Amino acid sequence: MDYFNYKNNQLFCEEVALSDLAEKYGTPAYVYSKKTLVRHLSAYSNSFEKLNNMICFSVKSLGNIAILNLLNSQGAGFDIVSGGELFRALKAGADPKKIIFSGVGKSSVEVAAGIKAGILSFNIESISEYERIKKIANEMQVSAPISIRFNPDIHAGGHDYISTGRKEDKFGIDSEEQVLELAQKINEDEYLIFKGLACHIGSQILSLDGFEKAAIKTLKLCDNLNNNGINVTLVDLGGGLGVPYKEEEPPSPKELIQTIEKVFIGRNEQIILEPGRSISANSGVLVTKIEYLKNKFIIADAAMNDLLRPALYQAHHSVMPVIKNKEASDMEYDLVGPICETGDYLAKNIKINAEEGDLLAVKTAGAYGFVMSSNYNARPRAPEILVDGSNHYLIRRRETLEDLIDLEEIPIA
Ligand SMILES: Cc1ncc(COP(=O)(O)O)c(C=O)c1O
Repeated sequence: MDYFNYKNNQLFCEEVALSDLAEKYGTPAYVYSKKTLVRHLSAYSNSFEKLNNMICFSVKSLGNIAILNLLNSQGAGFDIVSGGELFRALKAGADPKKIIFSGVGKSSVEVAAGIKAGILSFNIESISEYERIKKIANEMQVSAPISIRFNPDIHAGGHDYISTGRKEDKFGIDSEEQVLELAQKINEDEYLIFKGLACHIGSQILSLDGFEKAAIKTLKLCDNLNNNGINVTLVDLGGGLGVPYKEEEPPSPKELIQTIEKVFIGRNEQIILEPGRSISANSGVLVTKIEYLKNKFIIADAAMNDLLRPALYQAHHSVMPVIKNKEASDMEYDLVGPICETGDYLAKNIKINAEEGDLLAVKTAGAYGFVMSSNYNARPRAPEILVDGSNHYLIRRRETLEDLIDLEEIPIA
């Protein structure tokens, strides 16, 4: 469900015509709907009936501080994976006690920043990481809260690159004995506080099966820890719920939460979820202009540097004309960008009646869209605009050519 709809053949985001935004800010441009973001967050937060819970929005999916500030105002906590995301969340006004720090490779600087900020928990993924946090917490003489991310060996998720819960993936600790041993060590340390368990099995997951299995395995592990005198207060079941890019029919947040509640019924652990895509994907579109038509190619002004997903993992995005004044064409086009790579495309085999100068909206681009953008081919990044009813706000301006070289220096010989 989103708030991008046609009115008199013009595509609107809420009450604002995308063509008006394109005229004002140029293209390519990311446009987000506030109503969609708020609705999707509340689909999670209103669905828990029985369990103590917290929804930590996954910053990696959409990290603009205006968006984080909005979600923070609606009660969200945050799942972060870097010092940069910690900085963003704090700048957006997040309560550190609602921040979970995930990720396999936290640097010493990032660990120290997390401890200093007073975050809710580090989700650690290796013995080495435990040793690093222990050392830093001891040096700082400040307590560090820790949960252990375990690898449940569950196959779920869309593309191979976004499956994270299989034994062969780099994520989590896959031996139950090791988890137990590590939890004991954390529990006994003067400056470490054992919080609980974390488990994230992948992204763009379209069935409840994997989630249910992961919840059952986590519960078993909780019991094992409790039986060994280790108190589990927090259970983080990650994110991963899929969205309809094409005609997929993913379960709703409510169905996911009902599944989890069934498994954890009667328990006291705080359940944390870390949804990203299912909150942000449908909240955003990438608006682009057709520069040229050439054979089967629509060459647009947006490219893989703006939206990497198709080039990175053959992801599908639907494309809609911003002004629908013609019948759909029988001709099939590939929507490509100006970048010098054959893999630079945004959509393939789309049937659309296209003319040079027309505007197109690449849909479901809110998650893993702008955050993955780059300056490849020395292309300034697109602006981001947040629509709220009939108002809109420029929440990140378009980069300038000067921005491209701002950090560079020519050495003086
Ligand atoms: C640890 C963790 N939590 C949450 C997420 C968010 O996943 P999604 O955007 O699929 O909800 C990810 C994404 O890969 C992740 O690695």
